[in-house]
Amino acid sequence: MEVVIAKTQVEVAKRCADICCTLIKKKPNAVLGLATGTTPLPVYKELIQRHRADEVSFRQVTTFNLDEYLGLAPDHPRSYRTFMNENFFEHIDIDIENTNLPDGNAENPLKAGPEYEERLREAGGIDLQILGIGTNGHIGFNEPTSSLGSRTRLKTLTEITVRDNKRFFKSEEFQPRLVITMGIKTILEAKRILLLATGSRKAQAIADAVEGPLSAMCPASSLQMHPNVSVIVDNAAAAKLQLKEYYLWVLSHQDYLLERFGDPR
Ligand code: PGA
Repeated sequence: MEVVIAKTQVEVAKRCADICCTLIKKKPNAVLGLATGTTPLPVYKELIQRHRADEVSFRQVTTFNLDEYLGLAPDHPRSYRTFMNENFFEHIDIDIENTNLPDGNAENPLKAGPEYEERLREAGGIDLQILGIGTNGHIGFNEPTSSLGSRTRLKTLTEITVRDNKRFFKSEEFQPRLVITMGIKTILEAKRILLLATGSRKAQAIADAVEGPLSAMCPASSLQMHPNVSVIVDNAAAAKLQLKEYYLWVLSHQDYLLERFGDPR
């Protein structure tokens, strides 16, 4: 995997936004896989700024989010639909009809996964998937021991994840324990993947994902199987990587190669 160690959270966001914008320039009707949480927020801020500066248009772009809480209507203030609308979609020129999240309000939640997979197939699959990582190594809401062959489905959150996400809910508010999440196999079908992490709380999960064994105990380690993943982290999230110096060395060569030959991706 390509490991890009950026100095700051802002640089992580800028690098990620650069890759998104290059893709959209090349393919204006690109399909983006998006994530919620704190990590991608600076990326959305950066993309909104670039859109306002007329540097990128999302008019033809389609998006698919990784996950949604079960039992929260789309207009619920804590739903991931609301999160995406408020933090990204309302500030760019995307057609809201082209933005997709799993249906957390589905009459039959067991059907919501297969229906989402169908929508994804019809859209032609994901060109670029943005991922955060949980402190327990989850991607999307694929918690440890999720099948590496899993598809979009209903999933029960671990206590750690419920605790980590408590900050988004008021103390008396209902916090769902059940979610609908893209599966690991679904994620691995994206053509390109960017795994983002910032802050020291993510350092162990990043070390496990990049340098640990391929294991369902660290769902993000499944990305080792994907041929086109960039792990973009700040210094704090890179702190436990054993081969940190090597990744920086590779990157210096990469910059030289990109300058001379361009990016084949
Ligand atoms: P965070 O969540 O960006 O809010 O840390 C990441 C995740 O749980 O995947």
